[in-house]
Amino acid sequence: LTSAQLKTQSPAAAAVQRPLTGPDWLRHARYGLFIHWGLYSTLGRGEWARNREQVPDHAYRALSDEFTASQYSPRDWARTAAESGMRYAVLTAKHHEGFCLWNSRTCSFNSANSGAARDIVQEFVEAFRQEGLKVGLYYSLGDWENPDWARAVKGDQEAEARFVDYTHALVDELMTGYGPIDVLWYDLPQGLTADQWRAKELNQLVRQRQPGILINNRSMLAEDFSIFEQHVQAAPEGRMWEACMTLNESWGFVGGDKEFKTPRKVASILARVSMLGGSLLLNVGPNGEGALPQESVRILREVGEWLDRCGESVYATRDKVLPFNLFGSTVAHGNHLYLFLERYFGETVTLGGLEPDVVCAEVLGTGQRLKAHREGGQTHLTGLPPEPPDPLLTVIKMELTSPAEQSISRAIGGADIMADFPH
Ligand code: GLC
Repeated sequence: LTSAQLKTQSPAAAAVQRPLTGPDWLRHARYGLFIHWGLYSTLGRGEWARNREQVPDHAYRALSDEFTASQYSPRDWARTAAESGMRYAVLTAKHHEGFCLWNSRTCSFNSANSGAARDIVQEFVEAFRQEGLKVGLYYSLGDWENPDWARAVKGDQEAEARFVDYTHALVDELMTGYGPIDVLWYDLPQGLTADQWRAKELNQLVRQRQPGILINNRSMLAEDFSIFEQHVQAAPEGRMWEACMTLNESWGFVGGDKEFKTPRKVASILARVSMLGGSLLLNVGPNGEGALPQESVRILREVGEWLDRCGESVYATRDKVLPFNLFGSTVAHGNHLYLFLERYFGETVTLGGLEPDVVCAEVLGTGQRLKAHREGGQTHLTGLPPEPPDPLLTVIKMELTSPAEQSISRAIGGADIMADFPH
């Protein structure tokens, strides 16, 4: 078997191959790739450079000629994402800098007129679709290229009318020119109200063009799902949500930023996101040429290998939250309960107040069986090795006699620990 064939037989790949269907697919997707790429990537100081360094307009516009995208290979990006267990991706079609990564009719400051002379969005959409991933486009409402945005924010009504028309035209191009789009990910609506953006009308148009689309909550309207930035938090029960987080400390490319999350850290974020029923949109910043930093790829792939061993725990859709323990996240799904041993205590794992009995328990990935016994209100699992059996994050899978319930009525301090979680 080639490694590609092996990959398609792995549990994570099997979960990934199950199609995400229906209007609530984001509830089950769990893990996606966020890509911040634009002219700022050629500077390598992050996506706010134009604004924070007050780069003169002519100098910033000149970056467009230098933007050759010589290493832009969206198929490589898509393969990395798919093989790492991700199920969708979101690309910054236009960030605050105002440069459009597509062949726009409305805005000439775009990638077709740049050194690259390519429609980046089109190639992105095709490549990710081909890998079976859902595709999303990030669109910054705020804009440092078009002077009407700043004027509108300062109260100039004529500029506002022009700029809002401009915005609607650009969004419409993205929604009509590239086939089905699964996510519209707005950003930087601040400065104008939903009424000023004519956001309701805009999103109606978007849904007319793209009946299946999910829209985030950054057009000053709630729409379909909530975003949490750089932290994991659940939306109220029933509401779909996504935590977007950087892999290092930057969104756009910063070569010197080596503060990468470890693969283990990413795994434990995924565990928590899964416990709380949301999705992690993990960001990478390709360099100015379009290559993903090697360190990012290495980390994503290591997490992907862990998902091959333990992914059923992460992709499982949780029925309820059982956070009361000392070791880490848990995912309760039907009669199964997964324990993520983020703190590892050796031989024995103890759960307090677990109500159903344990039918069997094993270490995910190795298949090692554990013994389970009950002592009053405690359930002990024994037989674990002294050191964690999984090199990244050990997960225990338990089968129970009925869906997991945990009684914490006698526990002191239960209320404040539970306060983070929706009930
Ligand atoms: C932050 C950054 C912005 C980035 C966004 C993603 O707000 O300033 O550049 O696109 O996070 O949510």
